[in-house]
Amino acid sequence: MLDQIVKYRQIVTLADGTRVLLRPLMHEDRDGLIALFEPVGPDDYKLMRNDVRNKELVGSWVDKLDYKKVLPIVAVVAERIVGDATLHFRGGPGRHIADVRIFISKEFRRRGLGTAMLRALIDVARKCGLQLLVAEVVADQVKVISAFKNLGFEQRALYPDYFMMPDGETHDVVVLMLPLTHKREEF
Ligand SMILES: CC(C)(COP(=O)(O)OP(=O)(O)OC[C@H]1O[C@@H](n2cnc3c(N)ncnc32)[C@H](O)[C@@H]1OP(=O)(O)O)[C@@H](O)C(=O)NCCC(=O)NCCS
Repeated sequence: MLDQIVKYRQIVTLADGTRVLLRPLMHEDRDGLIALFEPVGPDDYKLMRNDVRNKELVGSWVDKLDYKKVLPIVAVVAERIVGDATLHFRGGPGRHIADVRIFISKEFRRRGLGTAMLRALIDVARKCGLQLLVAEVVADQVKVISAFKNLGFEQRALYPDYFMMPDGETHDVVVLMLPLTHKREEF
């Protein structure tokens, strides 16, 4: 299985003709991943779980790369990493579940890349034998929520005041889920 993941490659052509390589994050990507997150503006930064401007932190994700815990698929254009989408595997009774997170460089948004990356992530998740994907999105991000829904995710919960911004303000979070297996119809 891991062999298959390491070799995963997909070329996507965006509507404007830009060709993007989707592949797993590798050890050589340390600088590239830091460069992806370094310019994050305040609007994105406040919505992120981690201090992605901290080079040590982002570098440690590459140094401690372990596809069995977190599997990152990156989007590469002309050798530059322009997007990062991750599967975070749960354990124990949640070992059939992974959490999904995605971040795309500002100038590459609204060009279909987010959708292509999520499709790739769903494909990889199936190959990993996962049965359920979960995405938590701040409820105000209506467009992002509909982008997940367009890929088949369904809203399963709304957690009130679940996400605290850097200024201490809390926001509701929508929990979206995508089952990857279909149970046989029961009569
Ligand atoms: C969410 C994100 C990955 C979407 O990526 P993207 O490349 O812009 O997505 P796409 O181009 O495939 O667009 C898919 C749909 O998303 C919606 N959308 C996403 N961001 C939007 C925005 N800022 N404004 C309006 N619509 C938006 C649109 O409905 C769009 O469909 P359309 O272009 O046909 O109208 C990207 O905006 C991002 O990295 N945001 C910061 C991190 C984040 O919010 N992650 C999600 C939580 S895990």
